[in-house]
Amino acid sequence: MIVALMGYMGSGKSTIGKNLATVLNYNFLDLDEYISEQENCSIPELFKNKGEIYFRKKETQYLNEVLSTKDNLVLALGGGTPCYGNNINILLDNSNVNLFYLKLSIPNLVLRLFKEKDSRPLISHLTTKEELTEFIGKHLFERTQYYNQASNIITSDNKSKKDILEEIV
Ligand code: S3P
Repeated sequence: MIVALMGYMGSGKSTIGKNLATVLNYNFLDLDEYISEQENCSIPELFKNKGEIYFRKKETQYLNEVLSTKDNLVLALGGGTPCYGNNINILLDNSNVNLFYLKLSIPNLVLRLFKEKDSRPLISHLTTKEELTEFIGKHLFERTQYYNQASNIITSDNKSKKDILEEIV
């Protein structure tokens, strides 16, 4: 089985994913890290040098590659992975994939992302918390229709890492 975690940037996909993999005795793979290794380039550099369309094409290509070559895996997707191409259906139609949406409120996303925005090309240009709040509000509104198709939705506001892990398990 592949447990795939989707959710907005900063929703905890990688942190929860690593811990979940330990609990389940599965391997862990972060799709962004995989893309970065395969392309020999960091995600910000990839956006800067080749552009977002190139990144999205590669994201779909490597998603398919991972789904068809790996198993017993916790897979942290990128925040945008389910929202481009046919990726949401690729994930939903694969009977080996168990899909989770890690849902977090906008104020909590802003708190987390304001500190980490420089590593994320889509938000690195935003300078204040107010700008970030406005951006996330619109962006999340567009993406929720994809995220909400997950068979499992885990709301993680006010929950400890342990609680979230127990709920997923
Ligand atoms: C993106 C999220 C990032 C990364 C890229 C684009 C997005 O992943 O894939 O910067 O479109 O939301 P994280 O969700 O791991 O930050």
